[in-house]
Amino acid sequence: MRTLIGKITDRSAHVCVIGLGYVGLPLAIEFARAGYQVTGIDADPEKVKGINAGESHVQDVNDVELRQVVDRGHLQATTDFAALCKVDTVSICVPTPLGKTKDPDISYIMTATQAICEYLHTGQLVVLESTTYPGTTDEVILPQMQNTGLHLGKDFFLAFSPERTDPGNKSFHLHNTPKIIGGVTAKCTKVAKHLYQQIIETVVPMSSSRAAEMVKLLENTFRAVNIGMVNEVALMCDRLGLDVWEVIDAAATKPFGFMRFHPGPGLGGHCIPLDPHYLAWKLKTLDYRARFVELADDINTGMPHYVVTRIGDVLNEMQKSIKGSRILVLGVAYKPDTNDIRESPALEVIRLLLAKGGEVFFHDPFITEVDIEGLHYAELNERMLNWADCVVITTHHSVYDYRWIVQHSRLIVDTRNATRDVKKGREKIHKL
Ligand SMILES: NC(=O)c1ccc[n+]([C@@H]2O[C@H](COP(=O)([O-])OP(=O)(O)OC[C@H]3O[C@@H](n4cnc5c(N)ncnc54)[C@H](O)[C@@H]3O)[C@@H](O)[C@H]2O)c1
Repeated sequence: MRTLIGKITDRSAHVCVIGLGYVGLPLAIEFARAGYQVTGIDADPEKVKGINAGESHVQDVNDVELRQVVDRGHLQATTDFAALCKVDTVSICVPTPLGKTKDPDISYIMTATQAICEYLHTGQLVVLESTTYPGTTDEVILPQMQNTGLHLGKDFFLAFSPERTDPGNKSFHLHNTPKIIGGVTAKCTKVAKHLYQQIIETVVPMSSSRAAEMVKLLENTFRAVNIGMVNEVALMCDRLGLDVWEVIDAAATKPFGFMRFHPGPGLGGHCIPLDPHYLAWKLKTLDYRARFVELADDINTGMPHYVVTRIGDVLNEMQKSIKGSRILVLGVAYKPDTNDIRESPALEVIRLLLAKGGEVFFHDPFITEVDIEGLHYAELNERMLNWADCVVITTHHSVYDYRWIVQHSRLIVDTRNATRDVKKGREKIHKL
């Protein structure tokens, strides 16, 4: 252990990151910037080629910062897992999606683990960063590593450390967001903590990898449940004839005991719609139903349907139907100011509108292609806005000039209250 701690301290440790996506690429760059020799392994040869050419595929990583570490020889990407034979630390950042029945799909973690086991050697630290259910690190990964004949805490170290990246966040980045670390043993926590302390201001050690796994699921279930609750408040306000945004703004004046969440067209991204299902699945194996998770999922996945019903209602007022109407959807990314469309609720809204016979166009300042049959990209100009029977705001990108959008549109359904500051033309706006 002393050797690895020493190598981490004097920067002679060779660091490896498996999975160079939204999470793994910034992590690899941060280690490279701190002076480590970093090898990034990714299964996608196109991404590997791009990274080695200094071309980033991740919005929060710009080409200049990537090129700096690549040109200095501090970061090298490869598809070849044989690179693992020379590395001292391995951080696993592969995807953890859901299967068709919303069960956890940890096959990417399993593939990465198998490759690591092939090259596992004395003095190596392995840290799982992918979001997963409590028990993955010590029940699934550890036994495979022990099958190599090497001993945990003596020959190798194993920990879980959830990633907390928030794409597009201008204030909190990897280095100033506290990092949770839970080793399978106390020694494992100590070694992993030492590694991450080199690049992150605050590292929070935990008693076990399971507790660390649960932290991530608490954080994201907390968001999913609160968003589900506020979405239900939006549905209730609609029935009561109240403006949900006015109610939330007023409640948020309370200086304690209230936290603002916003309703919207549904959940999006790679984390919040998925992670609570990891928790619910694990609890099902222990004969326990995660009721808040189920209820929030029910309400949140119903929101695109509600939005489409609202669009149908406002078109109806104009003596039109969704079928045959020209509908321009503004914003397909799942959150403002990013180009990430994973699980974006806008996509479900679009699919439902197309299924009802709408003529659907979209514009997004960061995205020009969306793989949905029948959907077309539209340039955003006065003619297009005016041509559309209805403009639907699904993502509140900050670069949009909402005053101009309202001025030139005939009818607007605003699912994000993006037009809150627009004074003129409010009669055209229908909020969630
Ligand atoms: N994106 C976020 O904001 C975020 C935030 C917190 C946690 N997470 C979690 O982090 C993990 C990674 O998420 P992401 O958003 O970076 O995913 P991503 O899809 O952007 O990146 C994953 C990368 O892993 C590669 N990959 C897949 N299988 C591989 C394998 N067997 N070996 C090597 N490379 C492989 C893919 O090619 C891809 O480049 C997930 O568990 C996710 O839930 C993501």
